[in-house]
Amino acid sequence: MFDTLEMAPPDAILGLTEAFQNDPNPNKINLSVGVYKDEAGRTPVPAAVRQAERRLLDVETTKSYKPITGTPDYAAAVQRLMFGQDAPILSRVQTAHTPGGTGALRDAGDYLHHVHPGATVWLSEPTWPNHPNIFKAAGVPTRTYRYFDPAANALDIDGVLDAFRTIPAGDVVLLHGCCHNPTGVDPTAEQWRAVADALAQRGIVPLVDFAYQGLAEGLAEDAAGLRTLLDTVDEAIICSSFSKNFGLYCERTGALTIVAKHQNAAIRAMSHIKTCIRANYSNPPAHGGAIVTAILTDKKLTDLWQDELALMRRRIHGMRKLFADTLDAKGVTLPGDDNTFIIRQRGMFSFSGLNRRQVDALREKFSVFIVGSVRINIAGMTEANMDRLCEAIAAVL
Ligand code: LMR
Repeated sequence: MFDTLEMAPPDAILGLTEAFQNDPNPNKINLSVGVYKDEAGRTPVPAAVRQAERRLLDVETTKSYKPITGTPDYAAAVQRLMFGQDAPILSRVQTAHTPGGTGALRDAGDYLHHVHPGATVWLSEPTWPNHPNIFKAAGVPTRTYRYFDPAANALDIDGVLDAFRTIPAGDVVLLHGCCHNPTGVDPTAEQWRAVADALAQRGIVPLVDFAYQGLAEGLAEDAAGLRTLLDTVDEAIICSSFSKNFGLYCERTGALTIVAKHQNAAIRAMSHIKTCIRANYSNPPAHGGAIVTAILTDKKLTDLWQDELALMRRRIHGMRKLFADTLDAKGVTLPGDDNTFIIRQRGMFSFSGLNRRQVDALREKFSVFIVGSVRINIAGMTEANMDRLCEAIAAVL
Protein backbone atom coordinates (compact mmCIF):
# COMPACT_ATOMS: atom_id res chain seq x y z
CA MET A 1 0.00 0.00 0.00
CA PHE A 2 2.66 2.54 0.94
CA ASP A 3 5.72 1.47 -1.01
CA THR A 4 5.19 3.46 -4.18
CA LEU A 5 3.60 6.54 -2.68
CA GLU A 6 4.88 10.00 -3.63
CA MET A 7 5.16 12.62 -0.87
CA ALA A 8 2.09 14.83 -0.49
CA PRO A 9 2.84 18.54 -1.00
CA PRO A 10 3.74 20.38 2.22
CA ASP A 11 1.05 22.58 3.78
CA ALA A 12 1.21 26.19 2.55
CA ILE A 13 1.56 27.52 6.11
CA LEU A 14 2.40 24.76 8.60
CA GLY A 15 4.84 23.24 6.07
CA LEU A 16 6.87 26.45 6.37
CA THR A 17 7.11 26.01 10.13
CA GLU A 18 8.71 22.61 9.51
CA ALA A 19 11.13 24.18 7.01
CA PHE A 20 11.91 26.96 9.51
CA GLN A 21 12.70 24.42 12.22
CA ASN A 22 15.11 22.64 9.86
CA ASP A 23 16.94 25.86 8.88
CA PRO A 24 20.31 25.94 10.74
CA ASN A 25 20.74 29.76 10.41
CA PRO A 26 20.82 31.16 14.00
CA ASN A 27 19.41 34.48 12.71
CA LYS A 28 16.38 32.98 10.98
CA ILE A 29 13.07 34.86 11.25
CA ASN A 30 9.68 33.14 11.12
CA LEU A 31 6.93 35.45 9.87
CA SER A 32 4.86 32.67 8.36
CA VAL A 33 2.34 30.93 10.64
CA GLY A 34 -0.21 33.23 12.30
CA VAL A 35 1.03 32.96 15.85
CA TYR A 36 1.51 35.90 18.22
CA LYS A 37 5.01 36.43 19.57
CA ASP A 38 6.07 38.77 22.36
CA GLU A 39 9.02 41.15 22.23
CA ALA A 40 11.36 38.27 23.12
CA GLY A 41 10.02 36.19 20.22
CA ARG A 42 8.10 33.77 22.47
CA THR A 43 4.47 32.72 22.18
CA PRO A 44 3.44 33.05 25.82
CA VAL A 45 0.67 31.29 27.73
CA PRO A 46 -1.45 34.24 28.96
CA ALA A 47 -1.49 34.63 32.76
CA ALA A 48 -5.31 34.45 32.69
CA VAL A 49 -5.05 31.04 31.02
CA ARG A 50 -2.52 29.79 33.58
CA GLN A 51 -4.71 30.94 36.48
CA ALA A 52 -7.79 29.35 34.94
CA GLU A 53 -5.89 26.07 34.45
CA ARG A 54 -4.78 26.05 38.09
CA ARG A 55 -8.39 26.47 39.22
CA LEU A 56 -9.60 23.77 36.86
CA LEU A 57 -7.10 21.31 38.25
CA ASP A 58 -8.59 21.81 41.72
CA VAL A 59 -12.24 21.48 40.76
CA GLU A 60 -12.15 18.85 38.03
CA THR A 61 -13.87 15.65 39.16
CA THR A 62 -14.16 13.61 35.96
CA LYS A 63 -12.80 13.13 32.47
CA SER A 64 -16.07 11.67 31.24
CA TYR A 65 -17.34 12.63 27.75
CA LYS A 66 -18.72 16.08 27.08
CA PRO A 67 -22.07 16.46 25.27
CA ILE A 68 -21.69 16.31 21.47
CA THR A 69 -21.90 20.11 21.29
CA GLY A 70 -19.91 20.77 24.49
CA THR A 71 -21.24 22.36 27.67
CA PRO A 72 -24.01 25.01 27.71
CA ASP A 73 -21.77 27.30 29.83
CA TYR A 74 -19.18 27.42 27.09
CA ALA A 75 -21.80 28.09 24.41
CA ALA A 76 -23.29 30.94 26.45
CA ALA A 77 -19.86 32.49 27.10
CA VAL A 78 -18.90 32.30 23.43
CA GLN A 79 -22.19 33.84 22.31
CA ARG A 80 -21.89 36.76 24.73
CA LEU A 81 -18.34 37.45 23.62
CA MET A 82 -19.45 37.65 19.98
CA PHE A 83 -22.80 39.38 20.27
CA GLY A 84 -22.63 41.33 23.58
CA GLN A 85 -24.15 40.63 27.00
CA ASP A 86 -27.88 41.12 26.37
CA ALA A 87 -28.05 41.08 22.58
CA PRO A 88 -31.56 40.21 21.27
CA ILE A 89 -29.98 37.74 18.83
CA LEU A 90 -29.14 35.46 21.79
CA SER A 91 -32.73 34.19 21.58
CA ARG A 92 -32.17 32.57 18.16
CA VAL A 93 -28.68 31.06 18.22
CA GLN A 94 -27.15 27.66 18.98
CA THR A 95 -23.45 26.99 19.52
CA ALA A 96 -21.34 23.84 19.39
CA HIS A 97 -17.88 23.62 20.95
CA THR A 98 -15.47 22.48 18.22
CA PRO A 99 -11.78 21.49 18.00
CA GLY A 100 -10.50 24.91 16.88
CA GLY A 101 -11.79 27.14 14.13
CA THR A 102 -10.69 24.53 11.59
CA GLY A 103 -12.94 21.96 13.29
CA ALA A 104 -15.84 24.43 13.15
CA LEU A 105 -15.27 25.03 9.44
CA ARG A 106 -15.13 21.30 8.76
CA ASP A 107 -18.36 20.75 10.72
CA ALA A 108 -19.97 23.53 8.67
CA GLY A 109 -18.68 21.87 5.48
CA ASP A 110 -20.02 18.45 6.52
CA TYR A 111 -23.38 20.00 7.38
CA LEU A 112 -23.62 21.75 3.99
CA HIS A 113 -22.57 18.61 2.15
CA HIS A 114 -25.18 16.44 3.85
CA VAL A 115 -28.08 18.82 4.33
CA HIS A 116 -27.71 21.37 1.49
CA PRO A 117 -25.85 19.41 -1.19
CA GLY A 118 -26.54 22.05 -3.90
CA ALA A 119 -24.81 24.86 -2.01
CA THR A 120 -21.49 26.32 -3.18
CA VAL A 121 -19.23 28.14 -0.72
CA TRP A 122 -17.79 31.37 -2.13
CA LEU A 123 -14.35 32.29 -0.83
CA SER A 124 -12.65 35.68 -1.02
CA GLU A 125 -9.78 35.88 -3.46
CA PRO A 126 -7.34 35.63 -1.71
CA THR A 127 -8.23 33.71 1.42
CA TRP A 128 -6.64 31.47 4.06
CA PRO A 129 -5.17 28.57 2.03
CA ASN A 130 -6.84 25.99 4.27
CA HIS A 131 -10.37 27.20 3.41
CA PRO A 132 -10.48 25.44 0.00
CA ASN A 133 -8.85 22.33 1.52
CA ILE A 134 -11.47 22.05 4.25
CA PHE A 135 -14.48 22.39 1.96
CA LYS A 136 -12.93 20.07 -0.63
CA ALA A 137 -12.42 17.45 2.07
CA ALA A 138 -16.08 17.84 3.06
CA GLY A 139 -17.18 17.46 -0.57
CA VAL A 140 -18.49 21.04 -0.85
CA PRO A 141 -17.82 22.94 -4.10
CA THR A 142 -16.08 26.31 -3.75
CA ARG A 143 -15.79 29.34 -6.01
CA THR A 144 -14.14 32.71 -5.42
CA TYR A 145 -15.17 36.36 -5.39
CA ARG A 146 -12.84 39.33 -5.93
CA TYR A 147 -11.83 40.86 -2.62
CA PHE A 148 -8.52 42.67 -2.82
CA ASP A 149 -7.39 45.54 -5.03
CA PRO A 150 -3.60 45.13 -5.22
CA ALA A 151 -3.02 48.53 -6.87
CA ALA A 152 -4.65 50.38 -3.98
CA ASN A 153 -3.73 47.75 -1.37
CA ALA A 154 -7.37 48.00 -0.27
CA LEU A 155 -10.71 46.22 -0.34
CA ASP A 156 -12.22 45.96 -3.82
CA ILE A 157 -15.72 46.73 -2.56
CA ASP A 158 -17.15 47.08 -6.08
CA GLY A 159 -15.73 43.67 -6.96
CA VAL A 160 -17.27 42.19 -3.82
CA LEU A 161 -20.71 43.67 -4.40
CA ASP A 162 -20.70 42.86 -8.13
CA ALA A 163 -19.90 39.24 -7.31
CA PHE A 164 -22.61 39.04 -4.66
CA ARG A 165 -25.21 40.24 -7.20
CA THR A 166 -24.64 37.10 -9.27
CA ILE A 167 -24.43 34.46 -6.52
CA PRO A 168 -27.56 32.27 -6.37
CA ALA A 169 -29.84 32.29 -3.32
CA GLY A 170 -28.99 29.46 -0.95
CA ASP A 171 -25.27 29.60 -1.67
CA VAL A 172 -22.90 30.48 1.14
CA VAL A 173 -20.41 33.37 1.20
CA LEU A 174 -17.45 33.05 3.50
CA LEU A 175 -16.52 36.35 5.16
CA HIS A 176 -13.69 37.03 7.59
CA GLY A 177 -15.20 38.63 10.73
CA CYS A 178 -12.15 40.86 11.22
CA CYS A 179 -8.41 40.93 10.46
CA HIS A 180 -8.85 39.37 7.00
CA ASN A 181 -6.39 36.52 6.49
CA PRO A 182 -4.17 36.99 4.48
CA THR A 183 -4.63 40.66 3.45
CA GLY A 184 -5.24 42.46 6.76
CA VAL A 185 -7.85 44.50 4.85
CA ASP A 186 -11.36 44.63 6.35
CA PRO A 187 -14.56 46.37 5.20
CA THR A 188 -15.32 49.74 6.83
CA ALA A 189 -18.56 50.08 8.83
CA GLU A 190 -20.30 51.45 5.75
CA GLN A 191 -18.95 48.65 3.56
CA TRP A 192 -20.17 46.05 6.08
CA ARG A 193 -23.66 47.55 5.74
CA ALA A 194 -23.45 47.31 1.95
CA VAL A 195 -22.26 43.70 2.17
CA ALA A 196 -25.06 42.83 4.60
CA ASP A 197 -27.71 44.43 2.33
CA ALA A 198 -26.38 42.61 -0.73
CA LEU A 199 -26.46 39.23 1.02
CA ALA A 200 -29.92 39.81 2.51
CA GLN A 201 -31.37 40.94 -0.82
CA ARG A 202 -30.18 37.80 -2.59
CA GLY A 203 -30.85 35.28 0.17
CA ILE A 204 -27.18 34.31 0.42
CA VAL A 205 -26.10 32.83 3.76
CA PRO A 206 -22.93 34.28 5.30
CA LEU A 207 -20.44 31.92 6.90
CA VAL A 208 -18.22 34.09 9.07
CA ASP A 209 -14.74 32.91 9.99
CA PHE A 210 -14.11 34.77 13.25
CA ALA A 211 -10.61 33.95 14.44
CA TYR A 212 -9.04 37.25 15.49
CA GLN A 213 -11.56 39.07 17.71
CA GLY A 214 -9.70 41.64 19.80
CA LEU A 215 -6.52 41.75 17.74
CA ALA A 216 -7.38 44.77 15.57
CA GLU A 217 -9.08 47.47 17.66
CA GLY A 218 -10.83 45.78 20.61
CA LEU A 219 -13.32 43.02 21.42
CA ALA A 220 -16.48 45.03 20.69
CA GLU A 221 -14.90 47.02 17.86
CA ASP A 222 -13.77 43.87 16.06
CA ALA A 223 -17.23 42.32 16.39
CA ALA A 224 -18.94 45.43 14.98
CA GLY A 225 -18.93 44.19 11.37
CA LEU A 226 -20.39 40.83 12.39
CA ARG A 227 -23.05 42.54 14.50
CA THR A 228 -23.98 44.87 11.62
CA LEU A 229 -24.28 41.87 9.34
CA LEU A 230 -26.54 40.03 11.78
CA ASP A 231 -28.77 43.10 12.16
CA THR A 232 -29.62 42.65 8.49
CA VAL A 233 -29.48 38.95 7.55
CA ASP A 234 -31.72 36.38 9.24
CA GLU A 235 -29.42 33.39 9.03
CA ALA A 236 -25.70 32.84 9.39
CA ILE A 237 -23.06 30.32 10.40
CA ILE A 238 -20.16 31.57 12.51
CA CYS A 239 -16.92 29.65 13.01
CA SER A 240 -14.93 30.98 15.98
CA SER A 241 -11.37 30.28 16.96
CA PHE A 242 -9.74 31.07 20.31
CA SER A 243 -6.25 30.10 19.23
CA LYS A 244 -5.00 33.67 18.85
CA ASN A 245 -6.96 35.83 21.26
CA PHE A 246 -6.64 33.36 24.18
CA GLY A 247 -3.27 31.95 23.05
CA LEU A 248 -4.86 28.47 23.03
CA TYR A 249 -3.35 27.30 19.74
CA CYS A 250 -2.54 23.72 20.69
CA GLU A 251 -5.69 23.24 22.77
CA ARG A 252 -7.79 23.37 19.57
CA THR A 253 -10.58 25.52 20.95
CA GLY A 254 -13.33 26.89 18.74
CA ALA A 255 -17.06 27.03 18.18
CA LEU A 256 -19.68 26.75 15.48
CA THR A 257 -22.70 29.02 15.95
CA ILE A 258 -25.93 28.82 13.99
CA VAL A 259 -27.98 32.01 13.74
CA ALA A 260 -31.52 31.26 12.55
CA LYS A 261 -34.80 33.16 12.18
CA HIS A 262 -36.02 31.68 15.45
CA GLN A 263 -34.74 29.35 18.14
CA ASN A 264 -36.59 26.25 16.91
CA ALA A 265 -34.94 26.52 13.53
CA ALA A 266 -31.52 26.98 15.18
CA ILE A 267 -32.12 23.85 17.30
CA ARG A 268 -33.12 21.83 14.24
CA ALA A 269 -30.04 22.97 12.32
CA MET A 270 -27.85 22.13 15.31
CA SER A 271 -29.35 18.61 15.44
CA HIS A 272 -27.84 18.02 11.97
CA ILE A 273 -24.52 19.53 13.02
CA LYS A 274 -24.54 17.08 15.96
CA THR A 275 -24.92 14.17 13.55
CA CYS A 276 -21.88 15.44 11.61
CA ILE A 277 -19.82 15.91 14.80
CA ARG A 278 -20.68 12.45 16.09
CA ALA A 279 -19.47 10.85 12.86
CA ASN A 280 -16.31 12.97 12.82
CA TYR A 281 -14.77 13.26 16.31
CA SER A 282 -17.75 12.31 18.50
CA ASN A 283 -17.54 15.17 21.00
CA PRO A 284 -15.11 18.02 21.66
CA PRO A 285 -11.84 17.94 23.62
CA ALA A 286 -12.67 19.59 26.94
CA HIS A 287 -9.65 21.48 28.19
CA GLY A 288 -9.54 24.60 26.01
CA GLY A 289 -13.27 25.17 26.32
CA ALA A 290 -13.07 24.85 30.09
CA ILE A 291 -10.33 27.52 30.13
CA VAL A 292 -12.35 29.94 27.99
CA THR A 293 -15.44 29.36 30.15
CA ALA A 294 -13.48 29.86 33.38
CA ILE A 295 -12.04 33.14 32.10
CA LEU A 296 -15.23 34.56 30.65
CA THR A 297 -17.36 33.72 33.70
CA ASP A 298 -15.04 35.31 36.27
CA LYS A 299 -14.69 39.09 36.34
CA LYS A 300 -11.10 39.12 37.60
CA LEU A 301 -9.93 36.62 34.99
CA THR A 302 -11.87 38.41 32.26
CA ASP A 303 -10.21 41.72 33.18
CA LEU A 304 -6.77 40.13 33.28
CA TRP A 305 -7.31 38.44 29.90
CA GLN A 306 -8.60 41.66 28.33
CA ASP A 307 -5.50 43.51 29.59
CA GLU A 308 -3.26 40.84 28.10
CA LEU A 309 -5.15 40.97 24.81
CA ALA A 310 -4.81 44.76 24.74
CA LEU A 311 -1.06 44.33 25.23
CA MET A 312 -0.88 41.94 22.25
CA ARG A 313 -2.86 44.40 20.17
CA ARG A 314 -0.66 47.34 21.15
CA ARG A 315 2.48 45.39 20.36
CA ILE A 316 1.17 44.49 16.89
CA HIS A 317 0.28 48.16 16.25
CA GLY A 318 3.76 49.13 17.44
CA MET A 319 5.41 46.60 15.12
CA ARG A 320 3.36 47.84 12.14
CA LYS A 321 4.63 51.36 12.78
CA LEU A 322 8.20 50.27 13.40
CA PHE A 323 8.20 48.12 10.24
CA ALA A 324 6.96 51.03 8.09
CA ASP A 325 9.39 53.49 9.77
CA THR A 326 12.38 51.16 9.44
CA LEU A 327 11.66 50.53 5.76
CA ASP A 328 11.35 54.32 5.26
CA ALA A 329 14.61 54.95 7.13
CA LYS A 330 16.41 52.49 4.89
CA GLY A 331 14.90 54.08 1.77
CA VAL A 332 12.88 50.97 0.97
CA THR A 333 9.33 51.21 -0.35
CA LEU A 334 7.31 48.02 -0.68
CA PRO A 335 5.49 47.83 -4.03
CA GLY A 336 2.90 50.64 -4.02
CA ASP A 337 3.08 54.39 -3.40
CA ASP A 338 4.48 54.30 0.13
CA ASN A 339 4.62 52.06 3.20
CA THR A 340 1.59 53.53 5.00
CA PHE A 341 -0.62 50.59 3.95
CA ILE A 342 1.24 48.52 6.55
CA ILE A 343 -0.19 50.73 9.29
CA ARG A 344 -3.71 50.74 7.82
CA GLN A 345 -3.96 46.92 7.63
CA ARG A 346 -5.54 45.21 10.63
CA GLY A 347 -4.69 42.27 12.84
CA MET A 348 -1.68 40.02 12.57
CA PHE A 349 -1.14 40.03 8.83
CA SER A 350 0.18 42.32 6.16
CA PHE A 351 -0.17 41.63 2.48
CA SER A 352 3.28 42.83 1.53
CA GLY A 353 3.11 43.48 -2.21
CA LEU A 354 6.25 41.35 -2.63
CA ASN A 355 6.15 38.71 -5.35
CA ARG A 356 6.65 34.97 -5.10
CA ARG A 357 10.26 35.15 -6.37
CA GLN A 358 11.13 37.71 -3.69
CA VAL A 359 9.48 35.57 -1.01
CA ASP A 360 11.57 32.58 -2.13
CA ALA A 361 14.75 34.69 -2.11
CA LEU A 362 13.98 35.95 1.40
CA ARG A 363 13.77 32.36 2.59
CA GLU A 364 16.66 30.90 0.60
CA LYS A 365 19.18 33.73 1.02
CA PHE A 366 18.19 35.34 4.34
CA SER A 367 16.25 32.65 6.25
CA VAL A 368 13.24 34.98 6.46
CA PHE A 369 10.10 32.83 6.21
CA ILE A 370 6.86 34.33 4.93
CA VAL A 371 3.86 32.62 3.34
CA GLY A 372 3.89 32.09 -0.44
CA SER A 373 0.75 34.22 -0.80
CA VAL A 374 3.21 37.01 0.27
CA ARG A 375 1.51 37.37 3.64
CA ILE A 376 3.76 38.62 6.46
CA ASN A 377 2.93 37.89 10.10
CA ILE A 378 3.55 41.27 11.75
CA ALA A 379 3.08 39.65 15.17
CA GLY A 380 6.29 37.69 14.60
CA MET A 381 8.42 40.84 14.27
CA THR A 382 10.46 42.18 17.17
CA GLU A 383 12.66 45.24 17.70
CA ALA A 384 15.61 42.87 17.64
CA ASN A 385 14.87 41.35 14.22
CA MET A 386 13.51 44.48 12.48
CA ASP A 387 16.76 45.83 10.99
CA ARG A 388 17.77 42.44 9.66
CA LEU A 389 14.33 41.89 8.19
CA CYS A 390 14.19 45.28 6.44
CA GLU A 391 17.72 44.86 5.07
CA ALA A 392 16.78 41.45 3.66
CA ILE A 393 13.68 42.96 2.04
CA ALA A 394 15.81 45.78 0.58
CA ALA A 395 18.17 43.17 -0.88
CA VAL A 396 15.45 41.11 -2.56
CA LEU A 397 13.71 44.19 -3.93
C1 LMR B 1 -2.48 31.02 9.89
O1 LMR B 1 -3.22 31.47 9.00
O2 LMR B 1 -1.26 31.10 9.83
C2 LMR B 1 -3.09 30.38 11.09
O3 LMR B 1 -4.48 30.43 11.01
C3 LMR B 1 -2.54 29.03 11.38
C4 LMR B 1 -3.02 27.99 10.44
O4 LMR B 1 -3.57 26.99 10.91
O5 LMR B 1 -2.85 28.13 9.23
